Amino acid sequence: MTDKTRRIAVCPGSFDPVTKGHLDIIERASKLFDKVIVLVSFNPNKSGSTSFSIEERMKLILKVTGHLDNVIVDCHPGLLAEYLKRTGACAIVKGLRAVSDFEYEFQMALANKVLYPEAETVFLTTSSENMYLSSSVVKQIAGLGGDISSFVPSAILDDINARLFKESE
Ligand code: PNS
Repeated sequence: MTDKTRRIAVCPGSFDPVTKGHLDIIERASKLFDKVIVLVSFNPNKSGSTSFSIEERMKLILKVTGHLDNVIVDCHPGLLAEYLKRTGACAIVKGLRAVSDFEYEFQMALANKVLYPEAETVFLTTSSENMYLSSSVVKQIAGLGGDISSFVPSAILDDINARLFKESE
């Protein structure tokens, strides 16, 4: 069901797992829009290689966004444009870390604009402390027994370590 009176933004991503960098973007988006949907989405380039199931990723996001009244978590296996259309969202919010992110993000933004012209892609520049941070960096460090407490919200540190240590055994 769409809600035309409220400005809804979608923050899509793989979130495998959610990091402090993601949370920073979600918190900032929640100040700009009436409602933010954090959408665990399907990235064909990463299919079959995720560490966390969709349900686990959603649970981790729920745990770290509990303090944000206007944020909900959902998942969608198909096209992002279809989801935007269905929910009446007016924006896709993405974080941009570096120039290296730009070409890929630009391509997706243009494709989504063609598929669903009513929504805009809004890029938020990442906070300087999260410039280098990605889910793959977190997985690599944790998998090798390193300390990831600077990279993931403390509420989910144990959940992530438990899974990634198990995986690397
Ligand atoms: O966190 P990621 O993996 O960089 O996020 C990429 C994601 C999941 C947002 C992107 O792959 C996506 O939008 N997937 C949904 C399927 C889709 O609509 N593909 C066409 C995008 S132009």
